[in-house]
Amino acid sequence: MKLTQEQSKVEVKGMEAKFYDLLMNIITLGTYPFFIRKAIKALNLKPGDRVLDMGAGTGRNDCLILKQIKDKGEIIGLDIGEEMIKKFKKNCSVGNATIINKKIDEPLNFKEEFDLVFISFVLHGFIQEKREIIIKNSFKALKKGGRLAILDYNEFNVEDSSFLVKYAIRKLECPLAEDFILRDWKKILKEHGWTSFSKSYYYKKKVRLLIAKK
Ligand SMILES: C[S@@+](CC[C@H](N)C(=O)[O-])C[C@H]1O[C@@H](n2cnc3c(N)ncnc32)[C@H](O)[C@@H]1O
Repeated sequence: MKLTQEQSKVEVKGMEAKFYDLLMNIITLGTYPFFIRKAIKALNLKPGDRVLDMGAGTGRNDCLILKQIKDKGEIIGLDIGEEMIKKFKKNCSVGNATIINKKIDEPLNFKEEFDLVFISFVLHGFIQEKREIIIKNSFKALKKGGRLAILDYNEFNVEDSSFLVKYAIRKLECPLAEDFILRDWKKILKEHGWTSFSKSYYYKKKVRLLIAKK
């Protein structure tokens, strides 16, 4: 059956948006703050770096990124969720972090401006055609030598996973997630021009931080 964007759950709204960070903490049995700190540390950002965060959400990740890029760095967050944007502004309201209400799955105008494009738990929620647009937007937005960091599900065989993992992916998660999990992302990124890759794994290898260099 062909997947459609209408099946996606990536647009977080209402109560889910209002309590998004708390929900993440509960779903992960309190481990999310430790996990996300570790993952953001693995980005190895430098003071002064410019970061584009696609689907920035509540700004939780960006508050941690700001600690690495310091005052001279800059974050541009893109999101379309009204509640998420409000949260970002509340959580991350410093001069060098800005949130823009903009769709990431349509061609963007950013060109060779950023050291890092970060996309965390967003890419799996799009149909492949839209993921490819997002990948192209990232490539164009990065400076030469800049990096794309995809924090999302790892590639694994859902069918052979435990009952709990199978239930979470097939019943609770976005219906597009399993399609994302089954794809070879290193191969896809290579086809789009990325050359070198590094990987870090979390949650028993079900989550991966994939970093690719332009
Ligand atoms: C699952 S949340 C992840 C938020 C954040 N990146 C994180 O890791 O906590 C997905 C986010 O993508 C945003 N989003 C969904 N569709 C989008 C689109 N087409 N363009 C920009 N943002 C979008 C949602 O509003 C939401 O904030």
